[in-house]
Amino acid sequence: MKTVRVEASRSYDVIIENGGINSCGDYIGGVFKGKRLMVVSDDIVFPIYGERVIKSLEASGFTVESFVIPNGEGSKSLSRYESLLDSMLMFRMTRSDGLVALGGGVVGDLTGFAAATYQRGIEFFQLPTTLLAMVDSSVGGKTAVNLTHGKNQVGAFWQPSCVVCDPSALDTLPQEQLLCGCAEVIKYAVLGDVRLFCLLEDCMRDSSLSKSLEDIITTCVNIKRDIVHRDEFDRGGRMVLNLGHTIGHAVEALSGFRQLHGQAVAIGLVMISRAAMKRGLLPESDFDRILGLVKGFGLPYSTEYSKEELFLASLSDKKAAGDSITVVVPVAIGRTRLLRLPCSELIDWIEP
Ligand code: NAD
Ligand code: GLY
Repeated sequence: MKTVRVEASRSYDVIIENGGINSCGDYIGGVFKGKRLMVVSDDIVFPIYGERVIKSLEASGFTVESFVIPNGEGSKSLSRYESLLDSMLMFRMTRSDGLVALGGGVVGDLTGFAAATYQRGIEFFQLPTTLLAMVDSSVGGKTAVNLTHGKNQVGAFWQPSCVVCDPSALDTLPQEQLLCGCAEVIKYAVLGDVRLFCLLEDCMRDSSLSKSLEDIITTCVNIKRDIVHRDEFDRGGRMVLNLGHTIGHAVEALSGFRQLHGQAVAIGLVMISRAAMKRGLLPESDFDRILGLVKGFGLPYSTEYSKEELFLASLSDKKAAGDSITVVVPVAIGRTRLLRLPCSELIDWIEP
C-alpha cells in the first residue's frame, strides 16, 4: 500500500492499494465524521463493485444509499446533475452527509460537482475504477458537467476528502479504456519524469504493465500532487497537465467524440512533440522515443483531419484566452515549456 498526501484547500490522502476498494469503509471512516453516504456509480461499475463498497461502508457504521447513472460522457449533463441533487434531497441529505464516487472520470466529475454545490458544499470521496481516473481526474479537485455545446463548461474546484485507488479494479476494465489511461500516463512521463518514461518502455518491451501498475499510479499521483500544490486553481503552472490536449481536444471534437479522450491525447502529444522537434526544441532522439512508446502501447499517433481543420477546432478550446493561447511544448523527456502564442500562430504548431 502507498499513500500520497495532497496539500490543498482541503488536504487528503490518496491511498493506492490492491484490494483497497474492499476497505473503503475503514479509510472513509477514518476521516469522515458524518453518518450517511450516497454512493454514485454507473450501470457498468455498480453491478461489479457496488455490493462490496456498500458492505464495507455499512461495516464501518454508515447508512448508505445509492444512485446509478447510465455509463458514458452523456451522463455528465445538467439534467443528470439535477436528478442526482433531487435524489440527495429525497434522501434528506444534510451538510454533514457525504457522497462517494465509484467509477471513472464521468462519475467522479459529476459527483464532485454535486458535492461542491449541494447545500453550498458537502464532503465527497473518490473510488476511481479507470486508470485515467486513478492517475488524473480523482486527484486535484476539478469537478464539472458539460453543456450541450461545450465540455466541462460548468464546474467548481472542490477537493475530495479521501481517494482510494485499487489497481486490481482495472482487471475488469476493457483494454481500450486501459490504453486511454496509458496515454495520460505517457503524458505524465513526458512532462515530468524520466524514470517513469523508462519504466513504461520496460513495460512495453516485456508486456509487464500489470505488474507495475501500483508504482505507475503512485508516481503519477505524486507528479499531480506537486503540480496541484503549486497551482490548485489553474492560474498558470497546472496548465502543463494539458500537454497533448490542445490538439487532442480538437481531434475529439472533430470526431464527434467517437475518438476516445486518451486516444486523442496520444495523437496530440505526438503532434506537438513533432512540432517541437522540427523547431529544434526537442531532440530528435526524444521524439523517436515518445513516438515509439505511443506506438508500443497500441495507441493512435496520426489522424485523418487536416492541419486547417485541427487549427480551427483547437481555437474553441478553453485554453484560448482572447487573442492568445498557451501551448505546452515538450523540450526533453521529463521537461516542458509553456508558450503563450497569438492564436493565429497555433497552426504552425500542428504537425500531422
Ligand atoms: P468513464 O468514466 O466514461 O469510464 C469509461 C468506461 O469504463 C465507462 O463505460 C465505465 O462504465 C467503464 N468502467 C469504469 N471502470 C470500470 C471497471 N473497473 N471495470 C469495467 N468497466 C469500467 O471514462 P474515464 O476515461 O474514466 O473519464 C473520462 C472523463 O474524465 C471525461 O469526462 C473527462 O472530461 C474527465 N476528466 C476529468 C479530469 C479532472 O481533472 N476532473 C481529468 C481528466 C479527465
Ligand atoms: N486534468 C487536468 C487538471 O487536473 O488540471
